[in-house]
Amino acid sequence: MDLQPSRELTIAQKLQLLLFPILTKRELKCALPFLFLLISSVVVFSFVIPLNSQSILRIGFFSQILPNKKPSLEACDYSNGRWVRDESYRLRSYTENCPFLDPGFRCSQNGRKDEDYRNWRWQPEGCDLPRFNASELLERSRNGRIVFAGDSIGRNQWESLLCMLAEAVSNKSRIYEVNGNPVTKHKGFLSMRFHDYNLTVEYYRAPFLVVIGRPPRNSSDQVRTTVRVDELHWYSKQWSGADVLVFNAGHWWNEDKTVKMGCYFQEGGKVNMTMEVMEAFWRSLQTWKSWALQNLDPERSYTFFRSYSPVHFRNGTWDGGGLCDNNTEPETNRKMLEAEPLNNVFISNVIKQMNNGKSKMIQYLNITYLTEFRKDGHPSKNREPGTPALAPQDCSHWCLPGVPDTWNELLYAHLLSKGFRTK
Ligand SMILES: *[C@@H]1O[C@H](CO)[C@@H](O)[C@H](O)[C@H]1NC(C)=O
Ligand SMILES: *[C@@H]1O[C@H](CO)[C@@H](O)[C@H](O)[C@H]1NC(C)=O
Ligand SMILES: *[C@@H]1O[C@H](CO)[C@@H](O)[C@H](O)[C@H]1NC(C)=O
Ligand SMILES: *[C@@H]1O[C@H](CO)[C@@H](O)[C@H](O)[C@H]1NC(C)=O
Ligand SMILES: *[C@@H]1O[C@H](CO)[C@@H](O)[C@H](O)[C@H]1NC(C)=O
Ligand SMILES: *[C@@H]1O[C@H](CO)[C@@H](O)[C@H](O)[C@H]1NC(C)=O
Ligand SMILES: *[C@@H]1O[C@H](CO)[C@@H](O)[C@H](O)[C@H]1NC(C)=O
Ligand SMILES: *[C@@H]1O[C@H](CO)[C@@H](O)[C@H](O)[C@H]1NC(C)=O
Repeated sequence: MDLQPSRELTIAQKLQLLLFPILTKRELKCALPFLFLLISSVVVFSFVIPLNSQSILRIGFFSQILPNKKPSLEACDYSNGRWVRDESYRLRSYTENCPFLDPGFRCSQNGRKDEDYRNWRWQPEGCDLPRFNASELLERSRNGRIVFAGDSIGRNQWESLLCMLAEAVSNKSRIYEVNGNPVTKHKGFLSMRFHDYNLTVEYYRAPFLVVIGRPPRNSSDQVRTTVRVDELHWYSKQWSGADVLVFNAGHWWNEDKTVKMGCYFQEGGKVNMTMEVMEAFWRSLQTWKSWALQNLDPERSYTFFRSYSPVHFRNGTWDGGGLCDNNTEPETNRKMLEAEPLNNVFISNVIKQMNNGKSKMIQYLNITYLTEFRKDGHPSKNREPGTPALAPQDCSHWCLPGVPDTWNELLYAHLLSKGFRTK
């Protein structure tokens, strides 16, 4: 794995020029990696660096200041702000004993000694996040379905929401997986029922959102699997009709997780050996968009596409000795932050196309910037019991309780501001 801009960026750049003239000043800098999955898998990802970083420089930084602004339910840009040290924050939260956490996210139980990573609260600029009220969200979600679809970082967020909601349910036995399955990374589909609310909170593993499967019969031997950019994952049948839908994608859309492993892109039933990764990602988003426009009822479904959550491998890559275990505090130097990933530019652009000036059907949940700071939030070497000592560190997922709780606070804030199930 190298740190040079990968080949796919030429086409990515072209697309960018085509679609987003405003962004042409951006330069491509380097590729970053990765994601741990069942079999450790490699993911190289490319970032664009904005030349103009005003928005970053403007922002205040870490401070001890307590919130002094009124919670606002009006339009507020929650994506922008700073992390505030707040030791009361953890007291409001669930603990690692929450029964719905998979073992890989229980960092203290897996040996993490420092606990300061739990003492930070996200403070948006210009407004406060409404305090998460589990009873309130459960009441509003009664007789409903909340669905997460995407890769394992989406599962990370799903587990966080389960534990946040479970805080309002005293008898945890009244929350259970509908098929009796345990919460582990080994399942493609898990549906947690909150019995007293007739609510299910579901997770569907679909890292590309579109289908990945066997190649057509006459394909060459080097094609082991294909990602069908024009065919949304068959799980999508389960997605329509949900009251809240949260999508995510990104970590698998890179050369190392696709073409370098014999996974090519397929369109119209034919393998296209030359289609590049970011082009394929763009096309898949178009497929997702058509599906969403046909299948989602904006009167009923509150739909979010969550932005990319950055990884924090010191020294680059996971197989190049990428580490994050000595990070005990958030990043304080804004110059160290990676700039907007191209994936995010694509996603937010597709959403703009869909909303097209009309009432906001789909929202872009921008968690990238706030997450960039939190290099202290990863499991690193404190992985699930049984992980070999020499296994790569997990600098992609997040300890729970932890950073994904903030993603869910943003989700909650957006739902409240849209009057979720009060109209
Ligand atoms: C996400 O939020 C950050 C911080 O406000 C902002 O700089 C960035 O442009 C946003 N990304 C997109 C794609 O809107
Ligand atoms: C949380 O919401 C419930 C139900 O809407 C309400 O009764 C309760 O007062 C709220 N709690 C707080 C701390 O706001
Ligand atoms: C439970 O919720 C579903 C919708 O998800 C609804 O069809 C069903 O009638 C509800 N059951 C009860 C007992 O209210
Ligand atoms: C908790 O819920 C389970 C399942 O409904 C029930 O069997 C059990 O008696 C409840 N426990 C308490 C303490 O209410
Ligand atoms: C495979 O079959 C399809 C459909 O018959 C055809 O269009 C395509 O050219 C074939 N590809 C190869 C590599 O032979
Ligand atoms: C493969 O994809 C590239 C990039 O989208 C496109 O230019 C080319 O025409 C495609 N090739 C075939 C055989 O469809
Ligand atoms: C990071 O890489 C540099 C240069 O390759 C090397 O000298 C250093 O020891 C590495 N640090 C760690 C913590 O692996
Ligand atoms: C972590 O290790 C790197 C490389 O050895 C070093 O540059 C950095 O300052 C260390 N960070 C902390 C918080 O110790």
